[in-house]
Amino acid sequence: MPKIVLVGSGRIACHLGKRLKAKGLPVSQVLSRTASHARALAETLQADWSDDWSEVLPDADWLLLAIRDDVIDDVAALLAPHVPDTLATHTSGGTPGSVLSPFFRRYGVFYPLQTFSMERSPVWSKIPFCVDATLEADRLFLIKIAKTISNLVYRVTDEQRAQLHMAAVFANNFANHCFSIAEKILAEKDLPFEMLHPLMEETLAKALHNSPGKMQTGPAVRGDADTIDRHLKLLEQHPEWQDLYKKISDSIRVAFSNLK
Ligand SMILES: NC(=O)c1ccc[n+]([C@@H]2O[C@H](COP(=O)([O-])OP(=O)(O)OC[C@H]3O[C@@H](n4cnc5c(N)ncnc54)[C@H](OP(=O)(O)O)[C@@H]3O)[C@@H](O)[C@H]2O)c1
Repeated sequence: MPKIVLVGSGRIACHLGKRLKAKGLPVSQVLSRTASHARALAETLQADWSDDWSEVLPDADWLLLAIRDDVIDDVAALLAPHVPDTLATHTSGGTPGSVLSPFFRRYGVFYPLQTFSMERSPVWSKIPFCVDATLEADRLFLIKIAKTISNLVYRVTDEQRAQLHMAAVFANNFANHCFSIAEKILAEKDLPFEMLHPLMEETLAKALHNSPGKMQTGPAVRGDADTIDRHLKLLEQHPEWQDLYKKISDSIRVAFSNLK
């Protein structure tokens, strides 16, 4: 049974800690900068806790850093002198694993590709896990643990993960921003956003079952300049959305002409 130290007590730490425990891989210690957060999570996980990095369990097998991206190196620097030979991984999609290399000989990444919030329970079996480590034995260890958590486990290098994370911004953050604009546009005319739900569901279903590039519809694909002009006129009060509409339409036009 590996001795797991969970570093951090935010969304990922809470969800991952609970899942590990449920799968018979209990966290031994929660380390986090805010004592009350560390204690609360440790109580849930029935683990030890500390807000003092120097109290990291000296015989820890795995440090799972689930902390803000921009402090991973600072916290690693504080932990490493106490457990220099322990495997350390972070959970970030946008941060190279090599950020840990100045501090740990054995390092890697344990990145769940999903958006998490406290209010929603993750469907772990369907969450792709992207794992990697410098040493093969550590990589196999991480893959084994990831497979107990999820059915979708991939070995993904730093270079691949950087690209994957950026693609996820298009698929998730940008798509959601467009949903948000659509909601506001409807609200201006007292129309409920729910009216768009079936269309959104069908768009997603089609994109999941086919190559989305082949499923593109709308005025930009049809080359319907009159409709595009009317829409741009309707957006005159919202120059930012108008600009976005133009740029996305241009991008669709280029993609479609490349397909022909
Ligand atoms: N949320 C997601 O959807 C998601 C998905 C995949 C991967 N990730 C990755 O998982 C990691 C954690 O994300 P999260 O969503 O769990 O973040 P979060 O809920 O905001 O929690 C952040 C954690 O970082 C700690 N922290 C912040 N500043 C710190 C500092 N200066 N020194 C030490 N600790 C500090 C916080 O401690 P306090 O409690 O003291 O504030 C908290 O425990 C990140 O690398 C993120 O990229 C997140």
